[in-house]
Amino acid sequence: MLRFLGENILSVNQLDRESIEHIFAVAKRMEPYAKKQKRTKVLEGAILANLFFEPSTRTRVSFGTAFNLLGGLVRETTGMQSSALAKGESLYDTARVISAYADAVAMRHPDAGSVAEFATGCSVPVLNGGDGPNEHPTQALLDLLTIDRELNRFGQKIDGMHIALVGDLKYGRTVHSLSKLLCHYKDVRFTMVAPDGLQMPQTILDSVSDAGHRIVLADKMEGNLAADIVYQTRIQEERFPSQEEANKYRGGFRISQSIYNAHCKPSSVLMHPLPRDSRSDANELDNDLNANDNLAIFRQVQNGVLIRMALFALTLGVENQVEKYETTV
Ligand code: CP
Repeated sequence: MLRFLGENILSVNQLDRESIEHIFAVAKRMEPYAKKQKRTKVLEGAILANLFFEPSTRTRVSFGTAFNLLGGLVRETTGMQSSALAKGESLYDTARVISAYADAVAMRHPDAGSVAEFATGCSVPVLNGGDGPNEHPTQALLDLLTIDRELNRFGQKIDGMHIALVGDLKYGRTVHSLSKLLCHYKDVRFTMVAPDGLQMPQTILDSVSDAGHRIVLADKMEGNLAADIVYQTRIQEERFPSQEEANKYRGGFRISQSIYNAHCKPSSVLMHPLPRDSRSDANELDNDLNANDNLAIFRQVQNGVLIRMALFALTLGVENQVEKYETTV
């Protein structure tokens, strides 16, 4: 199992099943604090540097919220242009500087490997909030926690489930990280539904296959969405070599209530890492699904706060002191 204390969380490759289950157990204990039924000051006096060099709503705000809910303070930098990186400062130097100010770092950056590079110069735990097309480990953990909780509603488990991953599986880092985490489970059936040119990278397919899971590759949604979990993704236009190339795929794979009725199971749980692209020519997950009880996208968001609280508590070594530092609500 990962030791957690003082560790960086850079990749899902660091996690085995025992580590994942330990994170989920700590996340469950965070629930009363996230719901504000209880308060804790376990991280009082601690400072999070929340460094987001690429656009984000959920990950940035939920990292900050998670740290605040544990009693800590948050300092933020958003956008490359508002940091000294724009003046040519290296990630290593930035990390050395931030280490002097903060007790933990959450970071997003457009380049693959950049968060790991930053961590080489950083003396406090660094949590990867997404490094380009590479990884998004906290998203994968919150997705997996959501899958576990949603399947529990139907008396099912992750072991033995059927998941359909849909859309941009080439550039979508969340589906890469989630697929790798699922390699720690047993007998998962994968249907990878993507247009030609955006299918899951072979390295991930190899890992999934080596874990003993069954994989079906499909290039259309029809006939391929009758899964326990249907995980839709946005076309990651910002990662394509050109807008012209991205436009070829825009609006190709849309799930609406009528598509759900026709091709999903009545119990299929719909997930999406968000943001969903709600512009009319994209619209991969239609607003007409908002009243569908099996649309789990906003439950994913809530689970994200729990996962990030758990990771801060674990990497800063306070997971067993949260209750001790409770204050009155
Ligand atoms: N899911 C996710 O990473 O969302 P943001 O880009 O808003 O952080």
